[in-house]
Amino acid sequence: AYNPTGGRYIMALDSGTTSVRAVIVDEYDCIVAQASRRIKTFYPRPGWVEQDPMEILASQIAVMMEVQFKSGIHSDRIAAIGITNQRETTVVWDRDSGLPVHNAIVWQCRRTSEITDALIADGMSDIIRDKTGLMPDPYFSGTKIKWILDSVDGARAAADAGELMFGTIDTWLIYNLTGGMVHATDYTNASRTMLFNIHTLEWDDELLELLDVPRSMLPEVKWSSDDYGSVSNEIMTYGPSITGVAGDQQASLFGHCCFRPGCTKNTYGTGCFMLMNTGDTCVKSERGLVSTIGIALDGKISYALEGSIFHAGATIQWLRDKLGLLSSTKEAADLCKSLEDNGGCYLVPAFSGLGAPWWDPDARGLICGLTGAADRATIVRAACESMAYQSFDVLHAMQLDAGVQLEILSVDGGASRNDFIMQFQADLLRIPVEQTENVETTALGAAYLAGLAVGYWEDLEELEQNRVPGRRFEPQMAEGEVARNLSGWHSAVDRARSR
Ligand code: G3P
Repeated sequence: AYNPTGGRYIMALDSGTTSVRAVIVDEYDCIVAQASRRIKTFYPRPGWVEQDPMEILASQIAVMMEVQFKSGIHSDRIAAIGITNQRETTVVWDRDSGLPVHNAIVWQCRRTSEITDALIADGMSDIIRDKTGLMPDPYFSGTKIKWILDSVDGARAAADAGELMFGTIDTWLIYNLTGGMVHATDYTNASRTMLFNIHTLEWDDELLELLDVPRSMLPEVKWSSDDYGSVSNEIMTYGPSITGVAGDQQASLFGHCCFRPGCTKNTYGTGCFMLMNTGDTCVKSERGLVSTIGIALDGKISYALEGSIFHAGATIQWLRDKLGLLSSTKEAADLCKSLEDNGGCYLVPAFSGLGAPWWDPDARGLICGLTGAADRATIVRAACESMAYQSFDVLHAMQLDAGVQLEILSVDGGASRNDFIMQFQADLLRIPVEQTENVETTALGAAYLAGLAVGYWEDLEELEQNRVPGRRFEPQMAEGEVARNLSGWHSAVDRARSR
């Protein structure tokens, strides 16, 4: 490993939907310090989701400061910075003032479902699918940009005059951290916009025209391990370089060392995202998954099949914040275990529609199967089980699409530390589920990408050697019970769906 005198470190910034964090990583992949802040989310109308880009930026800079003070490791000892981010979330800002023209439209937001319905009705699904690997859905950035340009006073004219810039959260952070010097994104983030051709690796003129997005707004697209400029001296005295960028789910794939085809990870964050590396083959799903750029490194693309679930950890937060059923999310596992079984109760968290494999933006959440015996534990258990059922549906589709039978599933993210959910997941999938030793797999992936660019780690083999697997959950539940549970879940999903 790289060991320059004085000891140097990599800083990774993970700008997620629920919180932003900054971590400092050493050459043995140990996280030596971290700091995080929660981010506010606004729901201006049913199904609409927004965040304030200035809050995201200010909080990100605050945690960068905090983690340096906490650890005593300052910018002169940071060899490079990696950035990873909630994907698809869309920011449009003014080129002169640098100010956003609207709140960030968050990936979960459904406000553009009419635009995507029109694309589907006009028969554009196949073209979009072939070029981008995605299906028309409000989830992706393209229709969100169109909405901002069409809805904010003066935005369309300003965009046509070249006065506006677009970015996902990585781009917004890079632009501001470099003092406005660099307007760039990486291939993994670009692949989530529905404007980027994942085969030619270029912004696609036909799609830009279809969604009325001027090319002048778009960032330059680069490899995930590349030079993205230096942090301005006003923010960090010695201005380290940003040399790693990837969307958070791709960073987590990388952090899991899923470098080879067939290797699959599932992250239980705000949503739940399962990605399978499919190597240089871009597998076209027949079962409601998307194809996306998984790893973009050293001039080589590895594609991935992805199942995107919109509400996972967010459901537990909803129980805590909106229903007051939990005082902390940590209580959930014990409450679940206090019950013998789910008592026939199911919760479908379709709060902003259903993602993979159903893609139904108008589905809405439901709780069903309640009896007079149901209590707080029943609802909490149904919510926790919903993460495992949704992941089951996605993995089932993925194995059929890829023609691969998985032997093990690597997991990370907050709810991967809930041993009730992980045991239930292994029971449903009938394969072992393995936690990572390090829960911050996403940040680690961004750190790896940044570190590889500056020779901090030599190569992928070194990263694989450092990897320490965590606890493993083996399937235990009787098959009849698994089948009963799955059939109860699928009839609940049928009721939640709009079509
Ligand atoms: O596609 C959205 C995803 O990147 C959000 O991830 O970790 O904020 O749930 P997370």
